[in-house]
Amino acid sequence: MTDYTPRPEDKFSFGLWTVGWQGVDVFGPASRPLLDPVEATYRLAELGAAAVTFHDDDLLPHESTRQQTLDRFQKALADTGLRVEMVTTNTFSDPVFKEGAITANNRDVRRYALAKVLRNIDLAAELGAETFVMWGGREGAEHGASKNVPAAMDRFRDALNILCAYVEEQGYDLRFALEPKPNEPRGDILLPSIGHAIALISELDHPEMVGLNPEVGHEEMAGLNFAHGISQALWHGKLFHIDLNGQHGPRFDQDLRFGAGNLRGAFWTVDAMLGAGTDLRYDGYVHFDYKPPRAEAIDGVWESAGACMRNYLILRDKVQAFRSDPEVAAAIEAAGVAELEVPTVAAGESLDDVRAQFAGDSFDLDALRNRSVAMEALDQLAMEHLLGVR
Ligand code: GCO
Ligand code: MN
Ligand code: MN
Repeated sequence: MTDYTPRPEDKFSFGLWTVGWQGVDVFGPASRPLLDPVEATYRLAELGAAAVTFHDDDLLPHESTRQQTLDRFQKALADTGLRVEMVTTNTFSDPVFKEGAITANNRDVRRYALAKVLRNIDLAAELGAETFVMWGGREGAEHGASKNVPAAMDRFRDALNILCAYVEEQGYDLRFALEPKPNEPRGDILLPSIGHAIALISELDHPEMVGLNPEVGHEEMAGLNFAHGISQALWHGKLFHIDLNGQHGPRFDQDLRFGAGNLRGAFWTVDAMLGAGTDLRYDGYVHFDYKPPRAEAIDGVWESAGACMRNYLILRDKVQAFRSDPEVAAAIEAAGVAELEVPTVAAGESLDDVRAQFAGDSFDLDALRNRSVAMEALDQLAMEHLLGVR
């Protein structure tokens, strides 16, 4: 039996807001007591995490206790060897952000959001974080005419340009990662998918400083294929960070533990992170952004945190076995997967050469129509690896 104990080299990381979620939802108040984020840091280290992440307000909700909590937190990091790899800003809970933060119609709100983010960038740099996530949960609308989308894109672009310039000026070693989400809490959120966010990045002054933090559930809420999304982000050099969790198809954001919900999607997600047979792989922290279900008490919180890491390790094992199985290699060959790496038009060839190939009726199109693609056989091998019978 393989040992699925998490190790520091696995680079597992948790948001302090994940295990700290008290279960408040739209139908009811907290179902669990407040968890001290410093205590949570010790507990996550015991479970095998290598790093923690947080929103400013998760760790430092009150000005009066800010320094004292920071001191306790830094002692916890020193005691456990955990590091802070990512920091993010809460620009969604305070009702001041009810109509948006950096893209709110109200200019004072936008300026307040910018000031809050700037202060938190200083903290991120002080704690040695390498990634600064921006999730615009309140950037969006419920009503058609209420938001000038091109103007919102201008303000999004301006804010990112300002923040990148600030990081550069200060000499901080920090990169930004945008987190897309289609809806919830807003009816429609701006930058709803990986593709939308990548398109905005290409309009920035410093596109090299901005990438993505895609979340499994957020793409799947929109019915999208997460493995394909992160593979494209890798191709653009934009997979700066990742939020792993679980989701049962298009519905509200479930934030299940990693591996729950769409298990086959999770298998292909790990495969994509490991490169899916290419050399484009993700080498950052394996970060979990999930919510222990509201029905669970504190024992279930720690059970689910451990399970996120365990499920990742089990799936990594399954993916590696799949990729090194000779029958799988033969099935990949039979499916013609490698041929896609051959350019459609060869160097030195003309477009006339391409057209000439199909001139008259010399080319056997029927053979192409009737060819085997052999993809069910390949997929069944993946299924059997996942089901544990190979
Ligand atoms: C969600 C989001 C948030 C963000 C996090 C970073 O589930 O809608 O994932 O949890 O990831 O707040 O700012
Ligand atoms: Mn989510
Ligand atoms: Mn997230």
